[in-house]
Order: sequence, then C-alpha cells, then structure tokens
Amino acid sequence: MLLQSKWITYKTGEYKDLNAKYGNPSPYFRKSFTCAQKPVKATLQMSALGVYMAYINGATVAEDYLSPGWVDYAKKLPLVTYDVTELLNTKNAIGIVLGDGWAVGHLGSKYTFKRNNYSDRIEVTASLTMEYADGTVETLSTDSTWKASTGEILRSDLYMGEYVDHRLSPGDFSAYDYDDTGWDAAEEVVFKFSRNLYLEAVQIPPIRVMHRLEGRLIAEDGTHYLYDFGQNMAGVVRFSVKGTRGTVVTVRHGELLVDGKLYTENLRQAEATDTYILSGEGTESFRPLFTYHGYRYAEVTVEGEAELSDVLTEVMYTDLPVAGEFRCSDAIVNRVYENALWGQRSNFMSVPTDCPQRDERLGWTADTQIFSQSAMYNMDCNAFYRKYLADIRDTQLGNGVIPCVAPMPHVGSFAYTGREAAAGWSEAPAVIAYCHYQMYGDKTVLRDTLPMIRRLLEYYAKESPDGIRTGEGAYGDWLSLGTPTDHALVSTAYYAYAARLAAEFCHVLGYGEEQTEFEALFAFVKTAFRKCFWSEEGRLTSDTQSAYLLSYQFGLLTKEETKSNLLRTLAEATNKLTTGFLGVKYLLPTLCELGECDLAYALITNREYPGWGYSVMNGATTIWEHWDSYTVENGIRGGMNSFNHYSLGSCTEWMYAYCLGIRPDPSDPGFRTKMLMRPYFDRTQRITFACGYYTIPAGRVSVEWERKPDGCYLYHADVPACIEVDFSFEGMKILSKIAKDGHYTYLLREEQ
Ligand code: BGC
Repeated sequence: MLLQSKWITYKTGEYKDLNAKYGNPSPYFRKSFTCAQKPVKATLQMSALGVYMAYINGATVAEDYLSPGWVDYAKKLPLVTYDVTELLNTKNAIGIVLGDGWAVGHLGSKYTFKRNNYSDRIEVTASLTMEYADGTVETLSTDSTWKASTGEILRSDLYMGEYVDHRLSPGDFSAYDYDDTGWDAAEEVVFKFSRNLYLEAVQIPPIRVMHRLEGRLIAEDGTHYLYDFGQNMAGVVRFSVKGTRGTVVTVRHGELLVDGKLYTENLRQAEATDTYILSGEGTESFRPLFTYHGYRYAEVTVEGEAELSDVLTEVMYTDLPVAGEFRCSDAIVNRVYENALWGQRSNFMSVPTDCPQRDERLGWTADTQIFSQSAMYNMDCNAFYRKYLADIRDTQLGNGVIPCVAPMPHVGSFAYTGREAAAGWSEAPAVIAYCHYQMYGDKTVLRDTLPMIRRLLEYYAKESPDGIRTGEGAYGDWLSLGTPTDHALVSTAYYAYAARLAAEFCHVLGYGEEQTEFEALFAFVKTAFRKCFWSEEGRLTSDTQSAYLLSYQFGLLTKEETKSNLLRTLAEATNKLTTGFLGVKYLLPTLCELGECDLAYALITNREYPGWGYSVMNGATTIWEHWDSYTVENGIRGGMNSFNHYSLGSCTEWMYAYCLGIRPDPSDPGFRTKMLMRPYFDRTQRITFACGYYTIPAGRVSVEWERKPDGCYLYHADVPACIEVDFSFEGMKILSKIAKDGHYTYLLREEQ
C-alpha cells in the first residue's frame, strides 16, 4: 500500500546504541489546520517504527495501546486506519507522541537483550484524508511543516518501564490554538528500509484495555505501598495522586511475594518499573502509555508528599472476541482452565509471546503451536494466527530453516536461539495452519503456509538423507521431568509429522502430485524412525511418556504399540505426568483415544506434584513455566522461571474437545455445515458435571452433561439447527435420545 505522507522524526537525544540501558525522551509532534467545512468523513492512516498515541482536538484517536503492533519491521510496516470523522471540526489540530516499543526498545532474552532491533530512532508517518459534502477530498500528511518537541515522557521501554515527569507536560498539544512557538520543525527522513513504501494494512484487532482490576492495599509503611490485584496478568498500573510538585512515585511489578515482599528476581534484566513525578497541580492521574508488565503485585514507593487513590490495573491484550468457555464440577480444574485463559490473555500481545514479565516476551513458535488449539477454542483467533503465520513466514532463512521465534529480533547474538531448526519450534507453522483450517475452514491458510513447509522439508531432506534428524541444538520436549526424551527421536518424529501435514495440505488444496511426494516422504521417515527408535522388545529406545505420545499422534506407532508402553511409563511415574512442552498437549487426548479416559480424569484432577492441580493448590492464577516453578519442598525455582507461560495449559483443548466433546468435522472443517460430538465422561466420578460452549459461524454450540445418582449420564447439546452433528459416545450405551431443532438430549450408561 502507498502512503503519500513523509516519514518524520525528531532527535530528542544522542541516538543510543544497542547496549544502552535506556532510550531517549519521546518525541511529540503536532499540526494545526483548518477545514472550510466539517468533513463528512475523515480517515487517519498511520504507521510507525516504534509505538504511538495519536490525538485530535484533545481526544485520543482510538483506545488502542502499543499500536501499530509488532511485525518484522525490516520486512513490512503495519498500517492502521482510523475513522476520525467525529473528532474533526473546522478548526483542528492533530498530535502524536511516540515510544520506543518493539522497534527501538529492548528485545531479546537473557543473553541477547539488546536495543535497536529494527532501528535506532523512532519514526512515524500519518495521513489524514478528509471528504466534504461537495465531494472534494483533502489530505493532510506528516512532513517538515509539523512541529516537534519533547514532553513529559523521558523514556519508555516495554521491559524497563516508563519514566514520566509531569512537570514537563506539554499540555493539550492537540488543541487547535496551542502555542507551539517554542517547538522545532519535524525532521523528514528517508525511511531506513528499502521497502519504505511497503505498508501492510493491519488485520488484527489492536491491543486494548480488556479488564480493570482494583488494587487491594495489603501492606504499607508510609513510603512503600504494596498492592495485590488478585490475578497474575499483563497490563499497567493506573492511579490518581495529589501531592507536592517534584514528588516521585515509583511502581515496581512482580508476580509473587516472598516473605511479604515483592519478588522480582525472575524478571532478569527487565526493570518493569514505572516512574511518575508530580507537577503538584490538583489531582493528577498517571498511566504509562508505552509499556506493559506481567504481574499480580505492585509496590508503589512515594518519595515526597503525595496521596494515592484509585489504584487499579488495566489489563491489556489483543482484543479478540471470546469464543468459548468451560466449567465443571471440580473447582481446581475450573481454576486450571481459568489459569490457561489468563495465560492467553497475558500473552496475546500483537504476537503470541512466551511470557509477559521477564526480559523475553518473544514469539516463541512452539509455545504457541502447542497452545494454538486451546487458544482457538477460547477466542476467535482466525485473524490473529493468520497474522502470526505471516510473521513466521517473514523469518524463514534462505536455506529453508524456520527459526524459533517470530518476529525475529535483528541485533545482538539472537542467532543462538533463532537460527537453527528445532523440532516442535520449526514445524510450528504446519501445526498452527492445520489447526486453523480445522477450526475456521479456510484453505487459503494452508495455501499460504505450504511453501514454507515445503522449503523446510527440503532442508531436512538435504541435512538428513537417511531420514533421521540428529536433534542437535534442538530443545526436545522442553521442560519435561525425569529422563529427557532423546532429541533425535523428537526431531525425527516432527520431521515425519511435518511431511504428513504437508501431504494433508496438498490433499485439501488438490495438489495431487505433490501430495504423493509428501506421503512418500512421510513413509520414508516413518520407516527410518521405526528402524532407529523402535526396539525389538517393543519399546521406543527413549522410553518416555512424551516419546510414545508424539510417535502415536504423528502416525509412527500403532494404538497397540502405544497403549501398553504409555500406561507402563505412566505407572512407573506413579500415574503422574512427566511430559514437557511438546508431549503435554497429547497426553489427555491420547489416553481417551486409547480407551483410558479414567486416567485422563485422574491426571486433570490430580492435586499433587507434578500436575496442573498442584500449581492451583499453591495459589497459581496462571499456568507456570515449569511443573516445579514452585514446590513446597524447594520453594521458588531459580533461573529461568516464569509464572505466566501458557504452554503447559494446552490441556484446555482436551476440556472442550474431549470432556465436552465439541469438535470440527475433518470432512467439512470450520463448523460450517457439520461438526462432531465426541464426549468422554468421567466414570470415576471425580468430575460429575461439565458444561461449556463454543461459538461457530452459525451461532453457539452449548454442551452440558452430568452423572446421575443412578450411574446414568445425561448429555445435552444445543447446536444451531443448520449444523449436522455426528454424535459418538465411546464406551457408552445410549438408553434414550431426543433430537429436535438442534436440541439433543441423550441418556447414557456405561457399557458393561
Ligand atoms: C522461552 C520458551 C521457549 C524456550 C525455547 C525460553 O526462554 O521462555 O518458552 O520456547 O526458551 O527453548
């Protein structure tokens, strides 16, 4: 897309290098203008390297934060369009303030935490198109006639936080008669990337304030005030304050308290600290514009005289419509569900990130492929994952390797994690696209994803002519317990799976010849896999729960080969899970498919370590990164340890698809005309009731079941009447059935 407007910037300090701790003050831009009459339609289009807030005549243009969002800015720039008709009069002014955001501020993880990943300076372009009643059109664009200055935001960074000195506030700089005589001219720049005109219209909703949580003051000593927002999440603290000029209010954020004090060790280099200096004029209110933090608790320190009020958290994430909900008779399981949902809410920040709190917050591909099915049940992720698949496409290297994070940060030694193929991470787009197709039924997603999978498979074929991937440099079944699953096994299994998915994509797309080639590749890798990893004793050489789960689900082992081994490995772990990121997604579904749903119910309701319930019993309000992020015996795990990583929350998909039974029908994906109902009931009575819904294009699919005192199960489903539903109740005998206009009631009893 072409914009006629110039890119502008304003130098507010010496440009910082990639190792600098903090960035420069925010540039503020403004322009007054008049219109002969009030426009009948006005549209503002904007893009930035950095993040922006825009105002017209004293009002914010939209309730967005951190726009234009995150993509690989070296490849394209997101273009955001706003309808601003209501904001314009005959006398107008527009104001824009910028922050470092993803483009200029820190990005990376532990060893690669650098600034300037896409640019050392923030730049913006904006174009306002005004249409009049007489049909004429006028455009106002950013250029050097705009005025520029500094203001109250002295620095901002997603990880470090924001520093605001309200004594330096420019006031209402988007007012028409604002006096900007002291302001400089904005500097027109030649946009630094060669594709300077390649602006791509943003297709996903913006980041917005989605919830407000009141802070509960839990401790104070007159200087330090400790607030509990009751929920781990991502957002910012907002407050009102009245006090003397120059008083400094500092807000630090943390996920936990230790001995009643804020715990911030796990944030690593992310300072996650906002600072506000009072102007002393009346009641002031503060809310940082260009940062967010992952926290449940905040410690506010007041140096000087000031009284705080209305301390609350604004929870922020990409504003995706709610799609579903799950509830059951077990309060702990309900909390597990909620915790995974809060993980999604905390990490869907323009990109699906791994965590919202420490110096990381990157688009790690495996984290989200494992959770993608769960995410799609919870929210309408159609556009979101389509955008993310494009982000992954932008990372693919010339040799076909798909790196492990998308978008790719560009400086520092990020190469150490980003430049090699790693099983589960590199094949993520194939898994996400397949799941997307099942849930939304749009073949174009498969069409757009196939080329990158083809190139990845070509790379694998070249690197591993015998079909066996070495697994070198891979993460394996990341964060599993006990003996790790052999990386070569995991990597070869994912190689086979990617070939199988590619064949499936070709099948759907009608690429018959290529389908045959990928099927042959799958068969070849499968043979190599079995030769290398399946031993004569009828076991995998790496005898772990995850090894059996992946091999079974990827079509490398039969049901019979899997069942006894999976049950044995579970029994050896006293029927507790040992799965990491990659295996956990398949644990409960596989048990149900193997006729062992009692064990699935035992695992999901288990409160002991290790398991989902253990974290809930220990106060978790989000899914932890490790099964042992905290244990009663060892306390908080040191080093890499987030308390808000959704990957192990991939059990959510089991709740919808197995416990309730709501599933797409692969013969007509996307819930357009058909769907499946495949519930598995808890015969052990740990869960005696479950209900929930999922929203399909034609309306809502609701399910509710309960176990009756006489041992029968009553199952109700309400489905839009136009949908053909295929019911199947594994292990159950149907005693009676009523079906009318999309309302179904079944009475069932366990088969003897
Ligand atoms: C991240 C992950 C990611 C992993 C790669 C971690 O630092 O937080 O969730 O997938 O690195 O192994």
